[in-house]
Amino acid sequence: MRTITQKFAVSYSYQVLFTRGLFDPGNVTLAGLLGQTGKSPNRALVVIDSEVARLTTGLLEKISNYGKQHDALIEFAAPPFIVRGGEICKQEPQEVDKIHSLVERHRLCRHSFIIAIGGGAVLDAAGYAAATAHRGVRLIRMPTTVLAQNDAGVGVKNGVNSFGRKNFLGTFAPPFAVINDLDFLHTLPSRELRSGIAEAVKVALIRDRSFFDSLYSDRKQLALFEPAAMERMIFRCAELHLEHIATSGDPFEFGSSRPLDFGHWNAHKLEELTGGEIRHGEAVAIGIALDSLYSSHSGLLGDLDLRRILSLLEDLGFSLYHPALSWLDVEKALREFQEHLGGELTIPLLEGIGKKIEAHQLDTELMRHCINLLAERRSLLPVSLPADPAPVRAKEN
Ligand SMILES: NC(=O)c1ccc[n+]([C@@H]2O[C@H](COP(=O)([O-])OP(=O)(O)OC[C@H]3O[C@@H](n4cnc5c(N)ncnc54)[C@H](O)[C@@H]3O)[C@@H](O)[C@H]2O)c1
Ligand SMILES: [Zn+2]
Repeated sequence: MRTITQKFAVSYSYQVLFTRGLFDPGNVTLAGLLGQTGKSPNRALVVIDSEVARLTTGLLEKISNYGKQHDALIEFAAPPFIVRGGEICKQEPQEVDKIHSLVERHRLCRHSFIIAIGGGAVLDAAGYAAATAHRGVRLIRMPTTVLAQNDAGVGVKNGVNSFGRKNFLGTFAPPFAVINDLDFLHTLPSRELRSGIAEAVKVALIRDRSFFDSLYSDRKQLALFEPAAMERMIFRCAELHLEHIATSGDPFEFGSSRPLDFGHWNAHKLEELTGGEIRHGEAVAIGIALDSLYSSHSGLLGDLDLRRILSLLEDLGFSLYHPALSWLDVEKALREFQEHLGGELTIPLLEGIGKKIEAHQLDTELMRHCINLLAERRSLLPVSLPADPAPVRAKEN
C-alpha cells in the first residue's frame, strides 16, 4: 500500500463591525470594508429580507444612493433582490435558486460580494447560495434581528432545510465580514427582540459568569428593550460566540461536543411539537430552565445559582413552561439530538454559572421530574427571588 498524507492549515479572519445608520451618507463602515480589497469597484448583489425591505423606511433608496456616493468602491450588479423573510426562504429551494441565477446572469465572480440583509433565516439561505455559487462568492452579512446580531449572523455556518429536515443542506463558510446595525432592530416585534436575549443568557451560563451578572443587573432594562442595555448584551454575546468558535478547537464542529447547544436538545423538540408556534429563543429559554433544574437536581448546580437563572429568564419576560413539554418523549428527543450531533450523546450541563460540563447520558426519570417542577412553578408564580447578583463563588469561576 502506498500513502500520501495531505496536510495544510488555512487561517480565517473576519471583522464583526457595530454601527448605526449603515447606509447614511456619512457612514463609511461598508465603504471602508470594501476599500480593504484594493479593488475598484467591488461588484455586489444585495439580498434583502422582505420584512426588512417593507418596514425600513427608504431602505432601497438609501442603498442605491450609498452606491452612487461610493461608486469608486461599490458597483451594484443588479437591483436588490428581495427574498421572503423567515423560515420560508430556507424551506423553498426557489429562493436559493434565484440567488444563484442572479449570480450567473450578472456575472458575479468569486471576488464579488453578496450582501445579505435580514434575519437569521435569510442570512442562512443567502449564505448557502453565496458559499455554493462558484464554490464561494464573498459574503457580507448584515443581521437585522437580535438573534442574528448576537448569534446566528456572526458565525461560520449557513444552511437551508431539505427533506423536511432543518439545516439538512449547508456548509461551514466564514463570511468576509459582518456589520451589525442596531437601528435595524427598531422595527422588530417584541417577541423577536426578547427571543434573541435567550441566546445571551445561554452563552453567559456556559462561558462567562460576569456577563451573566451584567444581564442580571440589566434585566429590567432588557425586559423593556432599552437600547443601551440591548447594545451591551448584543456586543458581549456576539463576542462570546466568536471567542467560542476561535478557541474551542473545533470551529467546523467535527466532534460531538456542542456547548453552544446548551438547553437546545429539548428546545428543538419544543419548536417541532408546537409546529413553530413558539420562537426559537422562547424554546431555548425553557430549555435553559429545564437543563439548569436538572443540573441542580443532579447535585451539580447550587440552589442560589438556579434561583438566579430562573428569575433572570422570568424577569426578561420568558415563560418557562409550555404544555407541549408534557408530550415530550425524553428518550426519543435525546436520541434525535444525538443524531443531530453525530457520534456520542453530549449534553452540556452546568456546574455553576459560567461553568459547563458535558454529560453523555441523562437520567430520564429525573428529567421528567424536572419537567413537572417547571409545570408546578408556573402555577405558583409569582415567587420571591433574590434582588441582586450574589457574590461570585471562587469555585465556580
Ligand atoms: N447559521 C447559524 O449559525 C445559525 C445559528 C442560529 C440560528 N440560525 C437560524 O436562524 C434562523 C432564525 O433567525 P431569526 O431568529 O433571526 O429569525 P428569522 O430570520 O426567521 O426572522 C423572524 C421574522 O422577523 C422578520 N424580520 C427580520 N428582521 C426584521 C426587522 N428588522 N424588523 C422586522 N421584522 C424583521 C423576518 O422576515 C421574519 O419574518 C433559523 O432558521 C435558525 O436555524 C442559524
Ligand atoms: Zn439557539
